[in-house]
Amino acid sequence: MIKVAILGVGTVGSAVAEILKRNQAVIQARSGKKIVPVVGVVKDLNKKRDVDIELTDDIESVLNRDDIDIYVELLGGVEGPHQILKRILKKGKPVVTANKALLAYHRYDLQAVSNGVAIGFEASVAGGIPIIKALREGLSANHIKSIQGIMNGTSNYILTKMMHEKVSFEQVLKEAQELGYAEADPTFDVGGYDAAHKLLILASIAYGVHGDPEDILIEGIEHISQEDIYFAKEFEYTIKLLAIAKRRGSQVELRVHPAMVPSSKMIAKVDGVMNGISVVGDAVGETMYYGPGAGGEATASSVIADIIDIAREGKSSPMLGFKNPLEESALTLMPQEEIKTKYYIRMPVKDQKGVLATIASILGSCDISIDSFLQKPGVDDKDRVTLLFATHTCKESDVKRALEKINDLEFVLSRPNMIRIEE
Ligand SMILES: NC(=O)c1ccc[n+]([C@@H]2O[C@H](COP(=O)([O-])OP(=O)(O)OC[C@H]3O[C@@H](n4cnc5c(N)ncnc54)[C@H](OP(=O)(O)O)[C@@H]3O)[C@@H](O)[C@H]2O)c1
Repeated sequence: MIKVAILGVGTVGSAVAEILKRNQAVIQARSGKKIVPVVGVVKDLNKKRDVDIELTDDIESVLNRDDIDIYVELLGGVEGPHQILKRILKKGKPVVTANKALLAYHRYDLQAVSNGVAIGFEASVAGGIPIIKALREGLSANHIKSIQGIMNGTSNYILTKMMHEKVSFEQVLKEAQELGYAEADPTFDVGGYDAAHKLLILASIAYGVHGDPEDILIEGIEHISQEDIYFAKEFEYTIKLLAIAKRRGSQVELRVHPAMVPSSKMIAKVDGVMNGISVVGDAVGETMYYGPGAGGEATASSVIADIIDIAREGKSSPMLGFKNPLEESALTLMPQEEIKTKYYIRMPVKDQKGVLATIASILGSCDISIDSFLQKPGVDDKDRVTLLFATHTCKESDVKRALEKINDLEFVLSRPNMIRIEE
């Protein structure tokens, strides 16, 4: 019998306990062992909950038990669970976690302390989608060229609604909060931070690259307007919050931001709260993964898959999937300002002579070449027009420099908006 302790019996933890019981026979058939959740840790024992597992609020007593075979960490937080996981690993006990925030900062440290003891973390990226298994195992023969994913269901729900229903960001966010799809403080999701945590985890498996969330380009969807959506549709693009990793020589570029994606691409069709991830390998070509990125049962499905793996195989292969450095000289993070892509730039301006020439000259002086241009007359205000530029590939730092200069012009009516284009 494999005894499991569940640290944190909330949304995911209670689903883990429930599925371990409900699917006990099939889980036993697959693992060859009877897997039993013997204790769960919570903060507030008085909270009403519908779980069939012994509960305690004394985490120390559970950490000190010798009869637990696998610990499952579903507490949330960063530094607290980091210390807890280190303690468990040092005792030689395997752990399973869904905690992306913790892994975004401490994945290499945990791998180092683990000394070969299994750490399962499938549920930390894209909930129910087995993307970590795909990268660590299924695609292990490949050099990974790129990863491009929709990894935050809340943002995708909001953008999907905005694309289909002509409603503002604020309106959909409010509705998403009422439906329970968005947190009361949505910054973590709509600001791109949650997706960035997941991207860092995937990039460390694919490239062995180091870095904290603070080191990478992160931009949220808060500034996307119906005007952007209108122009996106005009050019047959869909706006998605993408988490992108790309190999560029000896560097890896990592970024999270809203992007215009051709509407014909598979990833553009990943709608609502669903997640979708495309991984391109040099041998396999493009592969695509789709499914629920969150939710108690979907996430528990991945947590239990890790438990089964550990029960079946004991000590697992290295946490991040490589025993030696992946490259002769380690790949490094590309500085944000060096990132190159295409851009869509929108700006409302006064309808007067010389505006276009001045803006074109600023863009040219910043090494930005224009691919296409569109002008939309103001609806209520006849003296206002919206200018739209799509650029050829250019440098992030050049675009930011140009936008600062344009923003200072007296005929520019509000801050120009920029969205990157991902073909
Ligand atoms: N929810 C999802 O869809 C999802 C998806 C992927 C990954 N994850 C990750 O999974 C983890 C758990 O998420 P969740 O949504 O299940 O969170 P949750 O519903 O807030 O549950 C957290 C649980 O941990 C307990 N807890 C928190 N701090 C504690 C402490 N200091 N001592 C003892 N117990 C403590 C809470 O106790 P009380 O019940 O008494 O408050 C609760 O049972 C997080 O790392 C999250 O990022 C979640």
